[in-house]
Parts: sequence; structure tokens; C-alpha cells
Amino acid sequence: MIDRLIKVFGIFSEAMRDALTFLRYNSYSPFVDKSKRSFYKIIIEAHTIEKGLSLLEPKYLFGKDKIRFVMSALTRYDIGYSPLPAQMSLGALQAYLDFHRQAGLSDIFLDEIDSFLHEWEAKVARPWNGGIREYSFSGPSIEGLEHLMATRSSIRTLKNHPLPTDQIMEAIALAQMAPSQCNRQSSRVHVYQDQQKIRELLELQGGSRGFSECVGNLFVISSDICAWGGPGQRNQAYVDGALFSMCLMFACRSLGWGSCPLNLAVPHKTEASIRQVGDIPDGERLIMMIAFGEPESRETKVAFSPRRSVVEIATLHA
Ligand SMILES: Cc1cc2nc3c(=O)[nH]c(=O)nc-3n(C[C@H](O)[C@H](O)[C@H](O)COP(=O)(O)O)c2cc1C
Repeated sequence: MIDRLIKVFGIFSEAMRDALTFLRYNSYSPFVDKSKRSFYKIIIEAHTIEKGLSLLEPKYLFGKDKIRFVMSALTRYDIGYSPLPAQMSLGALQAYLDFHRQAGLSDIFLDEIDSFLHEWEAKVARPWNGGIREYSFSGPSIEGLEHLMATRSSIRTLKNHPLPTDQIMEAIALAQMAPSQCNRQSSRVHVYQDQQKIRELLELQGGSRGFSECVGNLFVISSDICAWGGPGQRNQAYVDGALFSMCLMFACRSLGWGSCPLNLAVPHKTEASIRQVGDIPDGERLIMMIAFGEPESRETKVAFSPRRSVVEIATLHA
């Protein structure tokens, strides 16, 4: 009975600390760097323009208020922080203009955008990566994708030597293909190859007993809390972080490595210790660890981990 009461109290106190952490670091917090907040705000709003343009029949002159907001926010934004919001916004505005010009439309609002783009041409070099791009469903990739999904497994038999960092960056770049809410890309990856540090981190994680010795490469995935704001978004860090982590495991598999996700179902105290050992900023929420490396052997054994039948988890609603 006492044990249960302690658990119930623990749930309340951890939830309270979740709320305090979110309050301190979310995008509405005045304690968070202004450039960082603007970075996310502009990306989110610029994305609404490109999203509108990607519809089958975009409405003429849609989103005037958003566009005006993007233009004025960009004027106040410190581009030295990151050029991405500028590139994305300018690309989206250019595509907006092109769409209307191709439709033969002229409007004072379009002239406003045109002169804004001329002003920015000197500050941010083209090409501006934003707006819309061509996409094709054709090609031989489907079998490859199925194969990738069917052949990923949690691998607990890894060689513990460090992998080349350029290849690790390649894997991370692949994982960046993961979708993220409004393309805000809050996920962060911390990479460790120092044996002593990995041992300490795995000790705090606690779920790699029996194979921690063979881990020579470790990711800690986190999410920048400032990318999220307001009560509705309190848990979104985990959604984007999990999607990113999945893509990172697929990337590892595609490079011929094994990987094993490691839960961070830990209390704040342990999260703080992991952050301290791993030198991870306080404003990042930890999502999970991923042990990865060359497989000990091309032929190995994995836990069967059978899946439930599809009808047990799917409900086809009429
Ligand atoms: C978020 C998450 C946390 C996990 N944590 C651990 C862990 O701490 N230790 C471990 O050995 N495996 C861990 N796993 C691996 C699961 O046991 C494994 O994914 C599951 O059994 C399915 O097997 P498969 O990955 O081989 O398909 C974790 C998986 C996920 C998705």
C-alpha cells in the first residue's frame, strides 16, 4: 500500500516538474533567447505559405496576414543565428509570387512582396530553399523501403569500436528527412564515442545491462523545448523526437550498422544527471538513447519480439 502511495505521489511530483520545465523553456517564455524564439516562429509561419501553395487549387491571395507577419518578423530577425528562416520565407514568398504571376494576376499586395524580395536579394544569396518542389511517386524505391523496414531489428551484439564521424553525420543527415510539426525540426542529436562517458550514460539509463560493454557509439536524442509553446503542445517534443529517432535507426540500418533504442523513462533527477554527464543543455527534453555500431557479425541473433496480429491493433471505422 505504501509503495503504491509513493508511486502516486511520484507521478504528481514528476508531472509538476514537467510543467515547470515546459514553462521555463517553451516558446512563450521570456527567459529563452529571442533569436531562438523568432527562428521557430518564422519557420512555422513560413511553412503555412508553402503548405498553402502545395494544395491542389491554392486560393488566390491567400494568407495575407501571415505573409505580412513573415515579412515583418524577418526584418527584425538576426540572420546570424541561422539563415534557414530567411531562406525558407524568401523561397515561399517567391513561390507565392510566381504562382500568382503565372495565373496572370496583378495586385498591390504582390507588388509589396516583389519589392520586399528585391530588398532581400542582396542580403541572402539565391537559391532560396523554400516554397514548393517537384515530387514523384515513381521509381524503384518502394521495395527498398519495405526491405529496410522489415530488416531493422534491435541489435544487442555490436562491435564497440567508434565509427567514422563523417558517416555518423551522414546518418544524421538522412534522419533529418523525418517529418516534423510545421517543419520546426526541434530534434537534437548528441553523439558519444568516449568509452568512459558511454559507460556512465548507460549506467544512468539502466536498460542495456548485459550488452553495454559492446556499445562504442551512442546517440542521445533530445528536443529543443523552445520549439513548442502553449498547453496543447506540452508533449509534442516526444512525437517529433520519436519520429526522428525512428528515421535515425533506419539510417543506421541503411549504412549497414546495428542499433538498439534505449528508453529514457526516467525521473527528472536521472534526466538531470544524464544531461550533466552528456553536457546537454537544460532547455532540451530527453527523448531516448540509441546504441549503434558495426554488427559483431553479419549473421547474428536478435530477440524474436513477435508482433500482435494486425486485427488486434486496427479498428476500421465505418
Ligand atoms: C522507446 C524504446 C525504448 C527501448 N528501450 C530499450 C532498452 O532500454 N533496452 C533494450 O534492450 N531494448 C529497448 N528497446 C527495444 C525494444 O525491446 C524493441 O524495439 C522491441 O522488442 C521490438 O523489437 P525490434 O526492435 O527488434 O523490432 C526499446 C525500444 C523503444 C522503441
